[in-house]
Amino acid sequence: MQAPDPLGPGNGSRSSQRGVVVLGCTGSIGETTFQVLDNLAKQDQSLHVVALSAGGRIERLIELAELWRPEAVCIAVPEDRQRVQTALPDCEVFCGEDGLRALVQLDGVDVIVNGLVGAVGLEPTLAALEMGRDVAMANKEPLVMAGGLVLDHANKSGARILPVDSEPSAMWQCLRGERTQDVSRLILTASGGAFRGRARSELKQVTPEEALHHPTWSMGPKITIDSATLMNKGFEVIEASLLFELSVDDVEVVLHRESIVHSLVEFVDGAILAHLGRTDMALPIQYALTEPSRCAGPLAPLNLAEVGSLHFEAPDLAEFPGLALCYEAGRLGGSTPAALNAANEEAVAAFLAGEVGFLDIHSINETVLSKHNGQDAPDLDSILAVDAWARGQARSTISTYS
Ligand SMILES: NC(=O)c1ccc[n+]([C@@H]2O[C@H](COP(=O)([O-])OP(=O)(O)OC[C@H]3O[C@@H](n4cnc5c(N)ncnc54)[C@H](OP(=O)(O)O)[C@@H]3O)[C@@H](O)[C@H]2O)c1
Repeated sequence: MQAPDPLGPGNGSRSSQRGVVVLGCTGSIGETTFQVLDNLAKQDQSLHVVALSAGGRIERLIELAELWRPEAVCIAVPEDRQRVQTALPDCEVFCGEDGLRALVQLDGVDVIVNGLVGAVGLEPTLAALEMGRDVAMANKEPLVMAGGLVLDHANKSGARILPVDSEPSAMWQCLRGERTQDVSRLILTASGGAFRGRARSELKQVTPEEALHHPTWSMGPKITIDSATLMNKGFEVIEASLLFELSVDDVEVVLHRESIVHSLVEFVDGAILAHLGRTDMALPIQYALTEPSRCAGPLAPLNLAEVGSLHFEAPDLAEFPGLALCYEAGRLGGSTPAALNAANEEAVAAFLAGEVGFLDIHSINETVLSKHNGQDAPDLDSILAVDAWARGQARSTISTYS
């Protein structure tokens, strides 16, 4: 049997004018997607931008819409509608979560780049997959909170989940053409985040500004904090185990401070295939949009002689207890990862707002998980109920810190 390919056969058309929706176009993934679209256009591989969505950065949304001329945009709150509609008179303006679902269902859409952050990306992902539309998935939280449901939607319609997160993308590329039974483990690399090499006891007083200073990647605030706690790596363990149908214990994390090796796959004969590349999301985003072909990338090639040496070390789970918590949630499965994801979103927001300390993020997550009664195979309503419950629990725990 071939290794599970989240792509499957696919339904989308393969013409050079495929229609794309960019969700979260004003974020780090969104902005990099436009570099990729620019680069593809130069190579006669244009995609037609059908629709864009943003949260609060509406002036940037307007600039991008003037440049890419989508037929529709979506904003987060109704208060911004008047300003956006006046600036973009030829565009249909949608709003909120209903608007995100409507965007992915527009005529002429073949692929959605999901660059939203957090649970808000779940329902548009399900809506897109239900309609048989491929989703290039950077937004890992929906996979963590509702992986079974997301895969079910894709399997039923034949739509594909194209990994954009650099580590699952690297594994996907290493696994193509290989057989499941030949894989012995997946090896996820982790930069270690802002505080790598620092003892946990030193992190009590660290500020959001310090935690937002990632040593190798430039990303949005939520994933940057998740990188510092290693929750991001734990979420990727859950994401990879779902996409490639292995248990979380078959996914190992190794610290790799250069962020040049994006992940590796080990086979039963002991051979290890690694994916190397620049530390830039343009590479996995472009691959998701062009696979199985490759086009010249927007970046200069990696010069291995300049890179020099590569380092690998085992993570210390006592220093990074968030990673251990993700393994535990992944083993339990069902609704538990949804509860952990929701608690973590609230805890990270509270840390960024200065309401709790860095180490409190883990305590909040642990407290919420300890109260959660897991459900097996939850449907969408159950996932949303668990998400709301866990956010409430997290917020009441946060209130005890201030
Ligand atoms: N950045 C990376 O290099 C990277 C790498 C791998 C995976 N990922 C994953 O990709 C996702 C996006 O990460 P990012 O770093 O690009 O995040 P980001 O820079 O914070 O961007 C998030 C985007 O989502 C929009 N958004 C946020 N909340 C929203 C809401 N409630 N309703 C509608 N839109 C909303 C934001 O809009 P406004 O800015 O207009 O408010 C922005 O466009 C995350 O799940 C992350 O884990 C990111």
